[in-house]
Amino acid sequence: LPAARDRLRVAIQKSGRLSEPARALLTSCGLSWRESRDRLFCYGESLPVDLLLVRDDDIPGLIADGVCDLGIVGRNVLAEQLLQRSNGGADKYREWRALDFGACRLDIAVPDGWEWDGPAQLRGKRIATSYPALLGAWLREQAIEAEVVPLSGSVEIAPRLGQADAICDLVSSGATLAANQLKPVLTLLKSEAVLAGPATPFSDVREELAALLLRRLDGVLRLKD
Ligand code: PRP
Ligand code: ZN
Ligand code: MG
Repeated sequence: LPAARDRLRVAIQKSGRLSEPARALLTSCGLSWRESRDRLFCYGESLPVDLLLVRDDDIPGLIADGVCDLGIVGRNVLAEQLLQRSNGGADKYREWRALDFGACRLDIAVPDGWEWDGPAQLRGKRIATSYPALLGAWLREQAIEAEVVPLSGSVEIAPRLGQADAICDLVSSGATLAANQLKPVLTLLKSEAVLAGPATPFSDVREELAALLLRRLDGVLRLKD
C-alpha cells in the first residue's frame, strides 16, 4: 500500500500557454506558495497544497504513477494519453473539471491549395501528428486507411518538408497554420484546460484537501460565468 500523504501535490505546466492562467486560478482559490530556488517545486503556505512545475505532456503520467495527485492540463493531452495507456485495465485518472481557459481544437489541416471535399480525401495519405492515438481512433471510426506519421513537435512544417500530406494538430489562434499555408478542415476534439485527478478516491487526508480545493474552484468558476 502507498504511504499515507498529508499534503496535496498539484502539477501545472512550467512554461507555456497554460502555466500563468493555471497559477492564477489556483491563487484565486486562496492558495499561496513559498517559491523554491529552482522554482520547480513550490511549497504551499496557506494550505498544504504544493505545486510541481513540469512539462504538460508529463502530467498524466505523474498522476498515473501517483507522483502527483492532481494536475492542470489540456483535455487533448489527457485524452491522448488515456487512449495510449488503456490496455483493457481501468483508467487511473480522469477529467475532474473543465476550467474555462486555454480553449483550442484538435484539427485536421490540409495545404491551402487542396480543394477539400470530405474525410474520404485522406485515404492513402500521410498525416503528421503529435496525437497518434486520437487520430488513429478517429481514422478507424471513419474507416479511413491512412498513414499516421508521429512527430513530437513542429508538426505544421511536415507537409512543406514532404514528410506528410496533411496534419492533425492543436489550433488556437490559427496563426501557425496560416503561416505554414495550411487550412483547418475538420475538428476531432474541442479542448480546454482541465483539472485532472485520480479515478478513485484518496484514502487519506488528501481526500478532504481535494474536496476543499474543488469547492473553492467551483465557486471561482461560477463567478466567472
Ligand atoms: C500548439 C500546437 C501548435 C500551436 C498552435 O502548441 O502544437 O503548434 O500551439 O497555436 P496557434 O493556432 O495559436 O498558432 P502548444 O503551444 O500547445 O505547445 P506544445 O505543443 O509544445 O505543448
Ligand atoms: Zn506540450
Ligand atoms: Mg506544439
